[in-house]
Amino acid sequence: MADSITNSWFQKSISVIADCSLEERKYLFQQSRILKEAMQEQNEEVLDRFRISDPSFGIYEIFLEDSTRTRESFRNAAKFLRVNVSDMISGSSSLNKSESFRDTFHTLIGYSNHIFIVRSKQEGLCRWLAKSSKVYCGRMGTAFIPSFVNGGDGEHEHPTQELYDDFTFLEDLQWNYDKIHVALIGDLLHNRTIHSKINGLQIFNEVEVDLIAPGEMGLPRSYYQIMAEKVCNIRIFASLDEYLEQKHVAPMWYFTRLQLERMDEMILRREGELRYSVTLRPDHLPVLQKLQDEQNCKIKFYHPMPRHKQFPVIPTFLDNTPYNGWERQSANGLIVRITLLALIAGRCPPPVGLLPREETESKPVKSYEELPILDSGRPKVYSEGLRPIRNGIVIDHILRGSSPPEIRCHMRRITELMGLDRYRGGQWVGSSHKDSHIKAIYKGLIFVPEAKPFSPEQLRKLSAIAPHITINYIQDGQVQSKYRLLQPPRIYGFSETRCRNRNCISHESHHEGVDSEFSHTVEDNFICIYCHTGHNFQEIWNV
Ligand code: CP
Repeated sequence: MADSITNSWFQKSISVIADCSLEERKYLFQQSRILKEAMQEQNEEVLDRFRISDPSFGIYEIFLEDSTRTRESFRNAAKFLRVNVSDMISGSSSLNKSESFRDTFHTLIGYSNHIFIVRSKQEGLCRWLAKSSKVYCGRMGTAFIPSFVNGGDGEHEHPTQELYDDFTFLEDLQWNYDKIHVALIGDLLHNRTIHSKINGLQIFNEVEVDLIAPGEMGLPRSYYQIMAEKVCNIRIFASLDEYLEQKHVAPMWYFTRLQLERMDEMILRREGELRYSVTLRPDHLPVLQKLQDEQNCKIKFYHPMPRHKQFPVIPTFLDNTPYNGWERQSANGLIVRITLLALIAGRCPPPVGLLPREETESKPVKSYEELPILDSGRPKVYSEGLRPIRNGIVIDHILRGSSPPEIRCHMRRITELMGLDRYRGGQWVGSSHKDSHIKAIYKGLIFVPEAKPFSPEQLRKLSAIAPHITINYIQDGQVQSKYRLLQPPRIYGFSETRCRNRNCISHESHHEGVDSEFSHTVEDNFICIYCHTGHNFQEIWNV
C-alpha cells in the first residue's frame, strides 16, 4: 500500500467533486488513460499495477436508490481489482426498523470493509459518514478508517459521474485542458450530475457554458451564483429551438433526463411541454449540420443515462450517428471507477506525491477584534430611556443598512438566542442622518444594563448570529472597551442552527443526530457543509 503521507488519494472519501483537488483529478485522468490503453492492448503488466489482488479488501455497495450503471460498474471494477465486493439488500435491512445510518454503517465497518459506495436520497450522507466513522474507528481502534464514495445523493452531487464525464470530454478535446464550451440541457434543477459540473468543469482553464432548460427546470440560484463566479461566459436559453436560432453553439451537448421522481405536481402537469423543449428532433438535424459547417466543428452529444425508453431526450435514431458520445462515456465509467478504487486503495501512487490537504476543521478562529475608543473630547454616554447606563453592555450597528422591520426582527433573534431576555434593558432602531433630505441608513442597538461581559464562547455565537456588530462594555458610565465581531468562516456547535433543506442528512426530520454546520462563501452567505444549500446568516438560526 502507498505511503499515506505522500499519496492524497489514499483512503480518500468523496462526497462532492470538490473533495478532489484539480491536481488529484488530473492525475486520475492520466492513470485512467493508461488503464484504458492497457485494457485495449491486454497489457497485463500494466493492469497488475492497478489490481489490489487482496480478498480481505472489502468494497461494500449500499444503494438506497435505484441504479444500474453506478452499482454495476463499481461491482465490475471491484471484480477487476480482485477484491471482495458486497451489496447490502437495503429493502430488507434494519434501516426499515428505524435504525440510523450511523449504526448501520458502523456495523458494516466492523466487518472489515475498506470502501463504501453509497447512493441515497439524503444529501450529504457520505460527508456525515466520513465524519462519524473517524470517531467510531478511534473508539474501536480499527486498523484503518474506511472511505465513503458518493454514488449520487438526492439532488445534490454525483462526483464519480463527473469524473468520467470529464474524462470523456478530455478524450474528445485531445487531452487539451485549455478550454471547454459545453451546453447543459434538460432538468438542470434536479439533476445531480449537472450540479457536480459547477466545480467539475474547473479542471479546464477557460469554461463557457450554455444552460438550456425552461424556467421550471432551471439551475438553482445557489449553483448559478457559484457558476457565475467561476465560468467566464454563461448563456441561458429556454429550449433547444431557442438555442438553435442563434449561431454560436457549443461543440459538446450534455443532455439530462427529466427527473420525474423528484418533481412536484405543478411541474408534472406540464411534463410533455417541458420534455418537448429539451428533446432533440429530426427537424433539428439540418440546422445542426448547417451550424457545424459554419463553425467548422463536430458536435457530440453526451448523457449520464438512463434515458427514458418512451420519451428519450436523445432519441434512438441518433445512436448510429457521429453525434453519439454517450455510449463511450458510459463505458468510460468502468475505467474511471477502477482507477478511482485503485487510487483510494493506495495503488498507482503519484511519483512525487500529492500532499493531503490541511484539515481546517478544528482550528480556532478569532471571532472579534478590539476597537480603539476614540476621544472626541466629550464622554460617549449610552442611555436606558432617560437615564445614562452606568454599567452593562451596548450592542451597536445591528444589521446596519437594512430596513427597520428587518432590524427589529433580527434584534428579537439576538435577544432570544443570547438569553438577554432575563435582563432589563431595551432596543431601538436609530438612523445615521437627522437631515430629512439625505436617505437614512438604519441600524439596531440593544442595551443591557448590568449584564456581565460575554464569554469567548458567547462571542463566537454572537459573531455567527450578527457579524459586523460592535459591542461596548460600560463601566461607571464610560465605554471601557469596544469590540467588532468578525464574520466567522464556519458556524458549528450550536443547537439552535439548522439546514433548511429537508433532504439534507442534518435536517431534524431524519432524526440522525447530525449537528448542522455551515461554511462561509460570499458576503453574508453560508452553505451547509453536508448538502451545500445556501443560507444567509438569519436563515441558519431556528427561532
Ligand atoms: N448515470 C447513473 O448514475 O446511472 P444509474 O442511475 O444507472 O447508476
